[in-house]
Amino acid sequence: MTIKAVELFAGIGGFRFACDELGIKTIWANDLDDKASKIYQQNFKSGTFVQDDIKKQFDSIPSHQLLTAGLPCQPFSSAGKKKGLNDSRGTLFESLVHILKIHSPTFFVLENVKRLLSMDKGKHFATILDSLSSLDYLIEWRLLNAIDFGLPQHRERIIIIGTKNTVQPKSFLCSHRDISVISKNQLNQIACVDRWANIIKHDDKFPNWGLSYHNQFISDHLTTFSAAQKSVRLKDIIQKQVDPAFDFTRETLTRLKSSQRVEKYYNGVEIVYNQKGGARMGYTIFGINGVAPTLTSSTSRHYERYKIGNQYRRLTPIEYARIQGFPDNHCEGVSVYDQYALYGNAVPPPMVKWVINRLISNQFIHFNDLNNQMELF
Ligand SMILES: C[S@@+](CC[C@H](N)C(=O)[O-])C[C@H]1O[C@@H](n2cnc3c(N)ncnc32)[C@H](O)[C@@H]1O
Repeated sequence: MTIKAVELFAGIGGFRFACDELGIKTIWANDLDDKASKIYQQNFKSGTFVQDDIKKQFDSIPSHQLLTAGLPCQPFSSAGKKKGLNDSRGTLFESLVHILKIHSPTFFVLENVKRLLSMDKGKHFATILDSLSSLDYLIEWRLLNAIDFGLPQHRERIIIIGTKNTVQPKSFLCSHRDISVISKNQLNQIACVDRWANIIKHDDKFPNWGLSYHNQFISDHLTTFSAAQKSVRLKDIIQKQVDPAFDFTRETLTRLKSSQRVEKYYNGVEIVYNQKGGARMGYTIFGINGVAPTLTSSTSRHYERYKIGNQYRRLTPIEYARIQGFPDNHCEGVSVYDQYALYGNAVPPPMVKWVINRLISNQFIHFNDLNNQMELF
């Protein structure tokens, strides 16, 4: 039976792209934004796309088994005004909960910025976890990085999944290798839901992985893992010849006279120069031997320079597409600046493809049956 999906806050369709590749049929999608809606509809022809405020569309959502949503990150983003759930856009989360209550899909997958885990001493994440786990889903979250899915970008995103009809603690987002480094004592705690902590009493930032069920949770700091076949660097994806409009060589050479050569890597990103050795992103020159820093929708970031041979230039929209894991011309038809913003806002399809594939192919680890599974390590 073909799985039917609904995509909320669809943007340019990062989740949709992943679902298409997995043979999942996206039957309904929604976004408010003109440009995102235009790009979505020009790339994905089947199913219904509705351009509107989601709060006005509750009644038109058809029944489905998988719900995906990349909630607007601005209310939670460190680049934003840090208003969190108090921001009116934060209430979009309530819309999502409402839709989950009505349709009760078998699975859901949400994506958001890393800062959600620490914002306001974990209060926002606790609120989110508390609401979702009271809907009779087993919730699991994990911080994932685009670099671990074969993309040349340091992009950490929190993925939250919900699975229905499960009372047993199990993990879809951990490998046996991840589990093998968790202490035996902690594993025993994870296996016994009664020993999990009360979410609302928690007042600290949350670790990068955890499970939650019926307003209780358990969490741990997992080391990163890689699902990538091979590591990809910027030099592997850059365009050999680009329009001179992307070139800033002359002015950059002048600016470099007052810059310091740094030559270091930070989170896999090669930093060649820094203005006076400082950390201001706007003055940094990146190299192509590492990966890109997190692409964002914020305009100042789109002028960042990369040293490519003897040239200093910004990245092209085609390079943005490749860094995020989209086809080269996915956002064709809107301005270069809009393309940067749309890609910067999107979820990398390879990252969520991995997650959704684990869900639909039932690849999980049962915690209360670990003694038998240990042999598999
Ligand atoms: C972080 S982006 C999601 C990007 C998407 N996952 C992708 O791959 O492109 C959030 C999206 O939510 C949309 N949005 C914001 N408020 C909305 C609302 N009230 N109703 C529907 N969509 C909304 C924005 O237009 C934006 O495209």
